[in-house]
Amino acid sequence: MGDIVEVKTEPLRLGVLGAANISGKALYHPVSTNDRVDVVAIAARDRARAEAHAAQHGIAHVEDDYAAVLARDDIDAVFNPLAISLHHPWTLAALEAGKHVLCEKPFASNADQAVEMVAAADRTGLVLVEAFHWRYHPLAARIDELVDLIGGAELIEATFNAAIPESDEVRRSWELSGGALMDLGCYPVQWARFAAGREPIEVEARMCPDTAAGRELVDVETHIDLDFGDGCTGSVHTRMDAGFEAWLTVTGPRGWLRVVNPLAPHMGHSVEHDLGDGPVFETVDGLTTYQHQMEAFVAAVCDGESPPTGGQDSIDTMRIIDRAYISAGLPPRGT
Ligand SMILES: NC(=O)c1ccc[n+]([C@@H]2O[C@H](COP(=O)([O-])OP(=O)(O)OC[C@H]3O[C@@H](n4cnc5c(N)ncnc54)[C@H](OP(=O)(O)O)[C@@H]3O)[C@@H](O)[C@H]2O)c1
Repeated sequence: MGDIVEVKTEPLRLGVLGAANISGKALYHPVSTNDRVDVVAIAARDRARAEAHAAQHGIAHVEDDYAAVLARDDIDAVFNPLAISLHHPWTLAALEAGKHVLCEKPFASNADQAVEMVAAADRTGLVLVEAFHWRYHPLAARIDELVDLIGGAELIEATFNAAIPESDEVRRSWELSGGALMDLGCYPVQWARFAAGREPIEVEARMCPDTAAGRELVDVETHIDLDFGDGCTGSVHTRMDAGFEAWLTVTGPRGWLRVVNPLAPHMGHSVEHDLGDGPVFETVDGLTTYQHQMEAFVAAVCDGESPPTGGQDSIDTMRIIDRAYISAGLPPRGT
């Protein structure tokens, strides 16, 4: 018998732009549990904050600015968790520098930017994934199966509310492409598209702008009615001035399902369904959504696998968001 030879491949080397709050959950923890990827460089507007992240998470190099991270030869890919208005310029810059990108949601400020980003990834042959982490947990595949079992979606209802502090600039500022629909509502929009399995033909929205705070262009609450044609309709609701609530209900000709917390199922969730024999409860095991997402990103870059988020999926989500703003009389972000 021949010797067993262990093939050791080098880990994917990531750079990170900014010292964002989300990086703990979406980047540092999943990387710490995955030996196929390392974070090797960081920059933030405030160097001291980048140094604090580097010290805490064992990142070898701190640069003075984002461009210096992109210029490093020892970086294969970049995590872009910047404020939403900065997703487009810094993702384009990373792709031009020859780096694959994992970009936070929502992908861009509007659909035109999303089209440009996807075109740049196609042209450069690099991987560009939108960090819609929920889609990578095994719960997403189970929802897909259950929608099939109920005979397809006829009525979809999806909600994500959270209490966003007044001081949260990223979510509450027009300049940074904030708004409840952008930061929170992008999830139920994507859940509805996922359950319908196609794009809506009609999008009608009502929004409450943050007039009390003088932010007339920023929605604090949004309701969207969607018509997917062929007898399938949906409604999406989001608020950034209410307690945490995240759920998806789908009704079809042969039954219904209700998922509580499709957003972050690793924090606790439930799936209730009735396929004609009465209600049944179940849960779906998995790692954190972010661990599954990081595994998929590494597999996309290193093994050539096709991720389900990014590309046309991101463009389609942003198109609904743009249409909703226009329908409610507000301008799409970044315009
Ligand atoms: N996947 C998830 O579960 C999840 C959860 C929360 C948020 N997110 C998304 O992740 C992204 C960041 O969210 P976060 O909560 O982590 O935000 P955050 O920490 O408040 O801000 C993210 C980064 O944006 C830059 N930034 C903030 N304010 C800025 C300003 N006024 N001008 C220029 N740059 C500014 C900062 O970069 P520097 O560090 O360089 O200053 C900051 O680190 C958003 O797209 C958000 O929707 C995703």
